[in-house]
Amino acid sequence: MHVSIPSLVTLLALTGSAPAANAAGEKKPNVLIIMSDDQDRLLGSMDYMPVVQKMMGDGVEFENHYGTISNCCPSRATFLRGQAAHSTNITHVRPPGCGHRGNYDKWRLAGEDKNYLPHWIKKAGYKAEYVGKFLNGYSQANYHIPPKGWDHVDALIEPYINDYSNVVMSQNGERPVQYRGFTATMLIYRLQRLLDAEEPFFLAIMPYAPHVAGRQPPTPQARHADKFADATAPRFANWNPSDEIQKTNSVFLKDLKLMDSEAEASADRLFRGRIRAIQGVDEIIEDVLAKLEEKGQLDNTYAFYEAFPKVHFGKCMQYQDEANEQPFWPVGAENDLGKAYRQPTDNWVSSDKGEPGVPPNAELAGGPEQRHATMEQLMADIHVLTDEETGPLVPAEKD
Ligand SMILES: *[C@@H]1O[C@H](CO)[C@@H](O)[C@H](O)[C@H]1NC(C)=O
Repeated sequence: MHVSIPSLVTLLALTGSAPAANAAGEKKPNVLIIMSDDQDRLLGSMDYMPVVQKMMGDGVEFENHYGTISNCCPSRATFLRGQAAHSTNITHVRPPGCGHRGNYDKWRLAGEDKNYLPHWIKKAGYKAEYVGKFLNGYSQANYHIPPKGWDHVDALIEPYINDYSNVVMSQNGERPVQYRGFTATMLIYRLQRLLDAEEPFFLAIMPYAPHVAGRQPPTPQARHADKFADATAPRFANWNPSDEIQKTNSVFLKDLKLMDSEAEASADRLFRGRIRAIQGVDEIIEDVLAKLEEKGQLDNTYAFYEAFPKVHFGKCMQYQDEANEQPFWPVGAENDLGKAYRQPTDNWVSSDKGEPGVPPNAELAGGPEQRHATMEQLMADIHVLTDEETGPLVPAEKD
């Protein structure tokens, strides 16, 4: 699909009711977004994504894509409402109290979910689905109050989100299910259903990878756990500047000491965990493109890959290397724009107005080596969380 700037910028300014097809009776283009969490653009992770690398070869990049706030929950709220964080008032991952100002419960209790992306999309004649991480705080205690607006939502459930082989998810607020040895099978099954439907669709695929587990490296899918054993974080100019250079900085930066070899090794471990975890995202992009192609809808789908920012290695923090820059790529797009485009694309949806989790069953850590499974295989080995594992629920609200 040829991407033109006006179509991109107005793509989601969807207001008023609209039919599913244009005047010529053609199906309106689908919209698909794959958004990784806490991925950098300039700190090396994209070098380890072969599918993305190939796409970069013949695609276009929007290289002035910034997160307006370098934190995942506020960024998600911004994406969902088309507003900067000072307007969503979701400015932190944690709930209000102790100075924190974010989180799923605040979002829904403030009624921000009455007017946001899926409602607008549906008015425009689209089916709207969301798979993956929703706002922080959507958890085992409130899974039964699912995100409003979507025709179908299949969301990751905290605290079971840090092991990318054994994710726990709830479909539309149903009892959470643990997929043992997670594969993208369910995701591709949903995509297939959407492609077979009459209406055009908007699908948000929101992996949590390569987000870290608290201060620890993330747990990648088992088949990627041993990859890149010798990889180290790139040594940028700002990786580990001398004390003299550091002193010329302001605030806390001026006091950051030279990293010793243990600190460097620890940053390298984190880097390896992240590039292992990101393999699953690269595979999802490949699987999604293959399915769109198989169904002959690649040319009728606007697909984007982008990321939320917030990661730092070494002492790069606050420098250009990690200045909230995010990848933002039309996926699989031939284009006539030239290779790189520098129009700022942050906040591109427009509108008018703790602790690392443990899998429920720690023995299940790790997973099978195969990349794909059939739906039958997937469902034969799920674990439905018990009352004991979900714990007490918050009271359901009256709507
Ligand atoms: C923003 O959220 C904080 C709590 O996190 C609240 O105290 C404040 O009143 C909110 N501001 C507005 C304008 O709603």
